[in-house]
Amino acid sequence: MKFVALSVLLLFPFAAQGKTVQGEGAVGALCSMGGGVQGRCQEVGACLREGGVVEREGEVHLCTAQASDIIVCCRKPHIVAKQLCEAWAQYWRGPEGHCVEETSLIVGGVDADPGEFPHIAIIGEKSNNLPILWYCGGTLLSPYYILTAAHCVTGVDTEYWVTLGEHDRKISRFNDTLPVIKGPVPQSLRFGDRLASFTNTRAPIEQLVRVEEVIRHPEYHFFKYFDIALLKLNTPASLTKRVLPACLPIVTTDDLVGKELTVSGWGWTAFGNPELTRILQKVTVPVVDQLECQLRNPDYNGVSIPKGILKDQLCAGKPGRDSCRGDSGGPLIDQKERTGGRCEHTVEGIVSFGRGCGELGVYTRVSSYLDWITGHVAPGYPSAFVT
Ligand code: ARG
Repeated sequence: MKFVALSVLLLFPFAAQGKTVQGEGAVGALCSMGGGVQGRCQEVGACLREGGVVEREGEVHLCTAQASDIIVCCRKPHIVAKQLCEAWAQYWRGPEGHCVEETSLIVGGVDADPGEFPHIAIIGEKSNNLPILWYCGGTLLSPYYILTAAHCVTGVDTEYWVTLGEHDRKISRFNDTLPVIKGPVPQSLRFGDRLASFTNTRAPIEQLVRVEEVIRHPEYHFFKYFDIALLKLNTPASLTKRVLPACLPIVTTDDLVGKELTVSGWGWTAFGNPELTRILQKVTVPVVDQLECQLRNPDYNGVSIPKGILKDQLCAGKPGRDSCRGDSGGPLIDQKERTGGRCEHTVEGIVSFGRGCGELGVYTRVSSYLDWITGHVAPGYPSAFVT
């Protein structure tokens, strides 16, 4: 297969003529976008109009080129996200139809209910023979992947660990077990085949898992842009009512301004109080528009950020309602969506930075990274479910 730069393709649509064409390049056929990521062959204009992506790491993968149509390998991250969400939604609902939760630094927050946020992870690092030092949050996206902030995992050769199903940090619940929830998983998931052979019927309430690979966004740089990373676990999480993946956003056009979202974490409860909380905290924060956010100047602890707030970031919070240090990497979710009869949570933001704590927080906007995230978590184009 040959690659043609997107700009060349769009400006000189016939330039693609004469390039070697992949054998199974017919419209609708599965095709490869490189790095194990799959798409389906589609006419380039139709793909883009339908929210598809044709470029991956600067290259467009051509399926066929006829005189009139250019058929490229097209991937639709929002469709992958939707398929994942359809799978996880089934895990969040018990057999009787009820949602699986047990009960019906966060600044200004209150204790979360046990199991209220079954997607939350606490991330720590281990050096030498010291106990694990916990300092960031994360979100479970599939049995193998945790979403977090890149600034949480910048270490080289650092040993990272994750606890799932955590609630009260002073009580260890590695010996008590819960039934494992089984259901279909999309075949597009990386390691989906291995998941299918799970036989455990019970799993510990808290699951401590070592991180096998840290995948930071390639454009992350210290001054707070592209603050997003994925952690690949070395053994998959077992899904129970305390450990469930969150959905990725499916609607990518909503800027969410004015919505009340919920952030949770074990972070500091005041800027001067450098201690993680014992019990998971939660607080609702209003999403603020980009310009207002810019005017309120959420510099990073006194250092102004060079390009201001970009649209792949999201500002939320108001005086007394904010995330804080230690909440970084953790989820900002839309809990209200659940009133529409849904059980599963959708992760809209990743705690990134703020000026002190208790004014306004800046989050990485998850909907801006669907292609990057799903390319790692679910590289297969949506196809079948496996059980
Ligand atoms: N960067 C902080 C951390 O490393 C997160 C701070 C969030 N701050 C805020 N005011 N919302 O934990």
